[in-house]
Amino acid sequence: MSNPVQDLISKRVSAGLFSPGLQLERPAIERLIGLAMRAPSAYHLQNWRFIVADTDAAKQRLRAVSYNQSKVTEAAAVVIMVGTKPDADRLQADLARAVAASVLPRGIDAEWAAAVRAKYDGNPEAVRDEAIRSVSLAAATLMIAADSEGLATCPMNGFDPAGVAREFHLAADEIPVMLVAIGQIAPEAWSQKPRLPVAELLSYA
Ligand SMILES: Cc1cc2nc3c(=O)[nH]c(=O)nc-3n(C[C@H](O)[C@H](O)[C@H](O)COP(=O)(O)O)c2cc1C
Repeated sequence: MSNPVQDLISKRVSAGLFSPGLQLERPAIERLIGLAMRAPSAYHLQNWRFIVADTDAAKQRLRAVSYNQSKVTEAAAVVIMVGTKPDADRLQADLARAVAASVLPRGIDAEWAAAVRAKYDGNPEAVRDEAIRSVSLAAATLMIAADSEGLATCPMNGFDPAGVAREFHLAADEIPVMLVAIGQIAPEAWSQKPRLPVAELLSYA
């Protein structure tokens, strides 16, 4: 028994090679980023932002700080998935709007904002962990969304974080968590790698 989403997940591969030449129109990129942002985040922090390199010049700059990986320039676009510091004030305002729209119960805006201040203020390790969690979920969502449009993706950590931060003007408290390259898979790219057996990795508590 399977359905189209399960079929898509079952067939997903990271594109080992992209065929150059595909151009992604910016409305298409914006639609994909909008879908990526449907990913969950703790307290609905939405502690992420997205920088898209979709011009030759931007992709060259990114490739120079990504160990010269050719897929950075061969992909149609590469998304720099940036983790941001939880912003309790912005969160409180966002949640207050959801409260006003009767999506959330009264008081939750102040309650969650206080919890966020208590958890992350002065705790860079928690900030970093949360950035990696949120951005990883957004990256996976982005990959599935792109796959569903017949595109191919490759998540990448093969880059110099300091170089990406410098070249793309990240703030000191922002973390370049991952790149997601999006494009057209080359016919000679590797096919899907086998997985370990579920029984080897699954246990019940
Ligand atoms: C966090 C992360 C970082 C990765 N970094 C790179 C990378 O820098 N370059 C690359 O070619 N592939 C990269 N990959 C792709 C992995 O090699 C690939 O996911 C893995 O071999 C499994 O293959 P599959 O995704 O096709 O199933 C990365 C994957 C993940 C999840």
